[in-house]
Amino acid sequence: MTGFDSKTHWQDVYANKATTAVSWYQETPAPSLDLLQLVGAKPDTSIVDVGGGASILTDTLLALGYRDLSVLDISRAGLEAAQARLGAAAAKVDWIVVDVTQWRPQRSYDIWHDRAAFHFLVEESSRAAYVERLRSALPVGGHVVIGTFAPDGPEKCSGLTVQRYDAQSLSAALGAGFRPIDGRLYDHVTPWGATQHFHFGTFCREA
Ligand SMILES: C[S@@+](CC[C@H](N)C(=O)[O-])C[C@H]1O[C@@H](n2cnc3c(N)ncnc32)[C@H](O)[C@@H]1O
Repeated sequence: MTGFDSKTHWQDVYANKATTAVSWYQETPAPSLDLLQLVGAKPDTSIVDVGGGASILTDTLLALGYRDLSVLDISRAGLEAAQARLGAAAAKVDWIVVDVTQWRPQRSYDIWHDRAAFHFLVEESSRAAYVERLRSALPVGGHVVIGTFAPDGPEKCSGLTVQRYDAQSLSAALGAGFRPIDGRLYDHVTPWGATQHFHFGTFCREA
């Protein structure tokens, strides 16, 4: 997409829309919570939510006592919306403003979670850069949970074309070294009542 400025797009989205009015808004972050539980997450587990934006997942995990949370997003405005909602509790979270495809992780995480960010990477070079960061931030034994639109999900989100995945194509996109643990379909209902078909894939990093 020549000339497209992803950072400006996402800054504008969060600057101009209420976080509860975007198609991906979710009052209860299912099935993310189920999948974090499935891979054995506990309050001392370190989790990075990639493309987390203003997701309620952060609030929910803080309320459950999680102590090592990081939220990464290309949009400062998205993270600021989450910080404003959290108030003083925002200080307990590591907020990382960066394009994930250019990120230089400074540490490792037990779990890499991504709901509806990876599917915006429609170019092979961007996906390769994402997987390189994933490999660098997730040690052997760590888990990755990625939610994307399913093959029969919408072709676009936020006006942008997305890459849709099922269990096989997501596994192929991650490449060797990620053992599939779980793949499930999930119907997300937008704030205006439309149903969007998601696929969530969960993997364990192997040597
Ligand atoms: C559809 S929203 C989903 C937000 C959040 N995960 C949720 O479930 O509410 C996609 C998010 O990915 C972020 N994003 C898009 N491309 C990104 C990139 N290259 N690097 C980091 N974040 C990105 C956007 O700013 C936005 O917050």
